Amino acid sequence: MTTSKRALVTGANKGIGLETARRLAATGFKVWLGARDAERGTAAAQALRSEGLDVEWLELDVVDDESAAVAARTVAARATSLDVLVNNAGIAPGYVDALGPDERYELPPSRENIADIKATYDVNVFGPVRVTQAFLPLLLASPAGRIVMVSSYIGSIARAQDATGENQSPNIMGYGSSKTALNAITVAFARELAPRGIKVNAAAPGYTATDLNGHRGGRTVRQAAEIIVRLATLDADGPTAGYFDENGPLRW
Ligand SMILES: NC(=O)c1ccc[n+]([C@@H]2O[C@H](COP(=O)([O-])OP(=O)(O)OC[C@H]3O[C@@H](n4cnc5c(N)ncnc54)[C@H](OP(=O)(O)O)[C@@H]3O)[C@@H](O)[C@H]2O)c1
Repeated sequence: MTTSKRALVTGANKGIGLETARRLAATGFKVWLGARDAERGTAAAQALRSEGLDVEWLELDVVDDESAAVAARTVAARATSLDVLVNNAGIAPGYVDALGPDERYELPPSRENIADIKATYDVNVFGPVRVTQAFLPLLLASPAGRIVMVSSYIGSIARAQDATGENQSPNIMGYGSSKTALNAITVAFARELAPRGIKVNAAAPGYTATDLNGHRGGRTVRQAAEIIVRLATLDADGPTAGYFDENGPLRW
């Protein structure tokens, strides 16, 4: 058994999750790289190990109860606690197809497909609940557990209602409301877990070039991971039940 701090990042075989895993490992964590696909997961873990980092693939499909239970048992067999959980796995089905030639989002709520919305909620909302519940015993065994929910600016109702239009987010009902729900879930877990020393916060990584948006985003994964890593490594004075980007607290 290793004595270094341990972190789990879900959906970490690519994109923001992979960069978060890299950054946490570079700061000294042993990182469990959560991925649902063996080939993609082992390849990503191997790539980080070749950079000298302590990273191991953990099979984890966040929509599957059994997968989450087995993953938690696997970690429990190898470690007495988990210090950081980053609920990063997320999907935005149909997002790229709905972008018009001028990059405006063109799928109004009245035409969104319910099957896509359900699939989105399964990964983005129920996934973090399922994984947090499965790993809670290990997180409670840490002296200072930290949970980061990877949310989005699009989850902010205040931004959706921004009358000036300056910061108004695109009207993406399924994906956006999944992140709004995730924000509420962040606060719910934070309230329960504060007395037990676990801090739970939501991070907005910003519009980042990844497969999720066909690499349309203007930010790098390095920039996106900044706030996630910061919230994952908060000291005892740090906040809980908050929603942040790298510049500070955000309006819900
Ligand atoms: N990119 C942005 O502009 C942006 C902005 C705000 C928030 N975010 C959030 O950031 C997070 C990471 O997104 P990203 O941009 O890095 O997207 P990405 O490159 O598409 O990566 C998404 C990751 O989630 C994984 N995933 C999907 N379904 C899963 C499941 N059922 N179980 C386990 N893993 C699953 C994917 O695995 P597979 O390879 O197996 O599909 C992949 O590793 C998401 O929560 C997203 O909503 C992104």
